[in-house]
Amino acid sequence: DAGHYDTGGYEHYLLKEISEQPETVARTMSGRLDERFHIAHLGGLNMDARETRSFRRVKIIGCGSAYYSGQIGAQLIEELARIPADAEPASEFRYRNPVVDPDTLYVAISQSGETYDTLAAVQELKRKGGRVIGIVNAVGSAIAREVDGGVYLHAGPEVSVASTKAFTSTALAFALLALHFGRVHDLSPADGRRIVEGLRRLPAQIEEILTQNDKIAELAQKYAPYPSMMFVGRVRGYPVAREGAQKLKEISYVHAEAYPASELKHGPLALIGPEMPTVAIVPDDELLDKNLTTLGEIRARGGQVLMVGHREPDEKLADDVIVVPKNEIELDPILLTIPLQLLAYHAAVALGRDVDKPRNLAKSVTVE
Ligand code: G6P
Repeated sequence: DAGHYDTGGYEHYLLKEISEQPETVARTMSGRLDERFHIAHLGGLNMDARETRSFRRVKIIGCGSAYYSGQIGAQLIEELARIPADAEPASEFRYRNPVVDPDTLYVAISQSGETYDTLAAVQELKRKGGRVIGIVNAVGSAIAREVDGGVYLHAGPEVSVASTKAFTSTALAFALLALHFGRVHDLSPADGRRIVEGLRRLPAQIEEILTQNDKIAELAQKYAPYPSMMFVGRVRGYPVAREGAQKLKEISYVHAEAYPASELKHGPLALIGPEMPTVAIVPDDELLDKNLTTLGEIRARGGQVLMVGHREPDEKLADDVIVVPKNEIELDPILLTIPLQLLAYHAAVALGRDVDKPRNLAKSVTVE
């Protein structure tokens, strides 16, 4: 229910929520960054310093886009805090009778705080003595009440069924969490400063991405008529590819698959050809050369490439390029996802879909 909330002059809630992200991201960070010690203040965690240092693993659970943002989160925690972390769909987690480990910190992600699979997983964890924190948008929701503490996103109501601003704010909340854990493990003050400064740049950089709206709308018109799209990325780019494919499927009903770019040659390369374009996430990181090689392999099979990255490749390795502002390597996934939200949005509009209420889906799945 949208209540007092309206589309604020935008044609759809989805476009409004995508466009709001410079402000929602600023709200998620507000009052939480410490410029003096290069740390994050996350009082809602209810964890003292000893406890913050005590766990040895992080397990992240959530459904749909929450799960994909959790994959970004797991990478942030491993990279910045050097604590082993991984993400799993909450539904799978709860049905496989997981070992509940006292040295693991469990993190449940939910925009609505009402997703039944995630709630049931949290309840099962608690029953077995697991320590669970939440990353939740809706204040006072069922999951927020069930967990031992957590981080609220403060992203405001998200009405459109497909998650956008909550996804971005969740990835950002993980950056805060990773900074927080990192600075009591072995993240140096210099790296802490580098991350704090990077976080501060995000709102303006998102603004910059949004100015490419018209260009992305044109690209969406070009690619939307294809029956299927492949999304690829390596490591930091892989969860971005998964979320990009998910957005496209959800709202445009175009079939999309996401693969780690390195896995293409182990099967899905057989699908590549003139009928199946690829969206490739190619950040300017240590895997750049490998990713550029992949683009060449796709184009050699007649596949078109829409590259999302930090600069135009030197050779003509992509048919189209969306250039996104560069941040710190660890934070890049947060920005790389945003053009894919706009791409899915404009593809859905081009195909005349019901953007805010896609068929067969609900904003929050509160039943089993
Ligand atoms: C539904 C929505 C998705 C969302 C998922 C998790 O399936 O269609 O967009 O990502 O639920 O929702 P949550 O509120 O738990 O983040």
